[in-house]
Amino acid sequence: METLRRFSFVVSIALLAYFAFLASAEHHVREFVIQPRPVKRLCRTHQTITVNGQFPGPTLEVRNGDSLAITVINRARYNITIHWHGIRQLRNPWADGPEYITQCPIRPGQSYTYRFKIEDQEGTLWWHAHSRWLRATVYGALVIYPRLGSPYPFSMPKRDIPILLGEWWDRNPMDVLRQAQFTGAAANVSDAYTINGQPGDLYRCSRAETVRFPIFPGETVQLRVINAAMNQELFFSVANHQLTVVETDSAYTKPFTTSVIMVGPGQTTNVLLTANQRPGRYYMAARAYNSANAPFDNTTTTAIFEYVNARTRRGRGRGQIAPIFPVLPGFNDTATATAYVNRLRYWKQAPVPLQIDENLFFTVGLGLINCSNPNSPRCQGPNGTRFAASINNQSFVLPRSNSVMQAYYQGMPGIITTDFPPVPPVQFDYTGNVSRGLWQPVKGTKAYKLKYNANVQIVLQDTSIVTPENHPMHLHGYQFYVVGSGFGNFNPRTDPARFNLYDPPEKNTIGTPPGGWVAIRFVADNPGAWFMHCHIDSHLGWGLAMVFLVENGRGLLQSVQAPPLDLPRC
Ligand code: C2O
Repeated sequence: METLRRFSFVVSIALLAYFAFLASAEHHVREFVIQPRPVKRLCRTHQTITVNGQFPGPTLEVRNGDSLAITVINRARYNITIHWHGIRQLRNPWADGPEYITQCPIRPGQSYTYRFKIEDQEGTLWWHAHSRWLRATVYGALVIYPRLGSPYPFSMPKRDIPILLGEWWDRNPMDVLRQAQFTGAAANVSDAYTINGQPGDLYRCSRAETVRFPIFPGETVQLRVINAAMNQELFFSVANHQLTVVETDSAYTKPFTTSVIMVGPGQTTNVLLTANQRPGRYYMAARAYNSANAPFDNTTTTAIFEYVNARTRRGRGRGQIAPIFPVLPGFNDTATATAYVNRLRYWKQAPVPLQIDENLFFTVGLGLINCSNPNSPRCQGPNGTRFAASINNQSFVLPRSNSVMQAYYQGMPGIITTDFPPVPPVQFDYTGNVSRGLWQPVKGTKAYKLKYNANVQIVLQDTSIVTPENHPMHLHGYQFYVVGSGFGNFNPRTDPARFNLYDPPEKNTIGTPPGGWVAIRFVADNPGAWFMHCHIDSHLGWGLAMVFLVENGRGLLQSVQAPPLDLPRC
């Protein structure tokens, strides 16, 4: 009896040690030096703002439970901040990054250390500058592996390939923004899309640097597709190969197979691909899904999957045969985009809030500001106006003298008011022929207050003002469940009955169907100032944004932490 007891004691000590090893979290200390570097694309060299001279920036690889301390040193001539897109930053808005929302920008010559922990998150996220248009070139992947010993809900391939989809201007993106801000017209569309920073075979001076991925016949790989483009939803496809979707926005999905995915700016999608085709060369390609009635970059970016040991037949004058090109949907193929998004399901039953405390209805869309002198060089928008965008007719203006979070924490008045409207100020046929009197939003800096732990539902209703459009709406500090969507106006009497409250996809960014609505739910369990905005940067600049102020709960564990000492001052 005594030996048995001693034996089981020894076994449990061994098990404890084993689990402690499994749970061991790492601390990652990194430096991000923001600096201009010559980068040549489309035949021309630009002084591109980079992180550590890299474009795209470095990939961060961490595990669930790890902590990070990333010191951003600003050696560029612009103010900057970095946002860790999708990281929840529980009780720690100070590390979130959107300029003038949770912090003042890091000035040239200054630095700031983002300290945060990965708490119950795994999958593909990314980081990007959150200061004017710097994210055009300042972005990178943030890959979170499960804790050691914790399994994936699908059989995970040995090889993992980040695919960063970007957007390139053959100009300084900050000048493109400055010009648009001056004229009030839409910003120039980009000159190329990129895959891991390279435009690919279909652009001038780009062929030699097209990204190539060797792949072994029979091998399965995981692609971590990240849409880091500034202003465009993208279709993505690989010639002759099926894609099995297993995760979006760092949440697992029920796996399903498709030949094409649609990824909105800000979103990520993990797909598995098996090299089960005839050995050869196959393009992966991305191009616009453009739902708006507006100009867009209609070019196509490519990279190449090359089967290893593929026998290379000689082409005419070239060493290799041309890769096979995938079939991509038409630019305005909303039917394909919608059918794809509607297939997303959370991998298991989701803890969706059922009793709603805050029922919010937000109209999202564009608008036009009338000018007293329509011939002014500052009023180059449609019919002598300036473009704007709004939520519930409120066009968001960033504060300048302090950040929302700092002002809120210190109880400083005058930075933001808490009277953001929970419903539009007037009801109208949102997706019909909207009378011109309703096209002009009001500028302001308003937040909406949420009680700690409130169950929140937001119906995001696209409007047809100027144009109906898919708006990729991103909420900081939270993951939410997408419980329903549809075209036309949301009907509060009939639509909720069709909500999926069982396994809706978990996201941090979701597109409104163009001329339609999408409903999301979350529990407000993360106190702080959290930005919600359209992840199309043109629209963000026009004011398609608002702030949630989530109050503290009871005690320290439900309250915002004290700000770090090196938090930049305005
Ligand atoms: Cu990835 Cu506020 O954005």
